[in-house]
Amino acid sequence: MRGADRAAVVAGLGAWVPQTVVTNDELALRLDTSDEWIRSRTGIARRHVIAPGESTGDLAVEAGHRALKSAGTGTADLVVVATSTPDRPCPATAPEVASRLGLTGVGAFDVAAVCTGFVYALGVTAALIESGAARTALVIGADTFSTILNPTDRTTRAIFGDGAGAVFLRAGDPAEDGALRGLHLGSDGTRSELIEVAAGGSRQRSTGLPAEEAATYFTMEGRSVFAEAVRRMAASVQTTAESLGWASGDIDRIVLHQANARILAAVADRVDVPLERFPSNIERVGNTVAASIPLVLADAAESGELRAGQRVVLGGFGGGLTWGSVGLVWPGLTVG
Ligand code: COA
Repeated sequence: MRGADRAAVVAGLGAWVPQTVVTNDELALRLDTSDEWIRSRTGIARRHVIAPGESTGDLAVEAGHRALKSAGTGTADLVVVATSTPDRPCPATAPEVASRLGLTGVGAFDVAAVCTGFVYALGVTAALIESGAARTALVIGADTFSTILNPTDRTTRAIFGDGAGAVFLRAGDPAEDGALRGLHLGSDGTRSELIEVAAGGSRQRSTGLPAEEAATYFTMEGRSVFAEAVRRMAASVQTTAESLGWASGDIDRIVLHQANARILAAVADRVDVPLERFPSNIERVGNTVAASIPLVLADAAESGELRAGQRVVLGGFGGGLTWGSVGLVWPGLTVG
């Protein structure tokens, strides 16, 4: 992204969570857990979940609509949906989302990088805008992990929630506020088993054996994931900041994937930026996977915690393993 004479500029922002709220106390009615345990170990108090019949695409349409409204437009050249819970395994969710937004005919595809999905989608979309292949784009992060969690797993059920968030990008000048700069992406496939849904893909299906019910659910090795998330997000944020010439004291806000409040605190320590500069909404929405970063951006922009002119680094970490960061000076915009 460095050196280009054209940049992708954030010009709109929208978010959406489904109506149904599940509190920690409600989870504790059915699982061996407690509000105290979940709050103290994760910072989460409640999460939103879809109703029967709702889907990731439904949430993506709502968020996409709001991002278009925020940008003051009804159209985009491209629709990219970051998700690991597509409406169906095939085809991608993005074409249908695009059509439901009145954008039949535009380029539309999904990006799968689990909790780093939104950063990966921003990166690939920004490159398409810089190349001139698209002039405008809608980048939506949307996930409904409530649909793939094992109902008896107290750990994952405490952490994840459903939601969607979206930004509208337009071609602009690399020096203007809102321009995405300093993209950094990484992965480590040797640790793919730390976060996975084991069955449902070609590896399990090619055996001809039916999947065990348990293997169709999402699993995660919490402790290893925690350590990797801290290490990788801190390093990635630092790489992006350095590439932009920003020292830790120059960074006004670090907007991280909301995985666990203790992960945010540990990253703050590592990068030597006060925790007050890390906006967080994890208490209200939990870990919303690809929706996490745009949802926290929308909350922080609405509350005034995120203001025009601030130097911001976005950072994500997730299954794959994958991680990534990107920087921008926050633009003046109204959340849709
Ligand atoms: N309620 C009560 N107890 C729970 C629980 C819950 N919801 N979830 C786990 N526990 C228990 C465990 O079973 C374990 O019990 P044991 O000692 O009898 O075996 C105990 O709490 C400690 O488990 P541990 O996994 O060591 O706890 P932790 O402090 O590491 O917290 C996570 C667990 C999952 C909250 C934490 O590891 C985490 O946040 N990891 C990262 C998750 C993440 O970000 N995933 C998405 C990545 S993008």
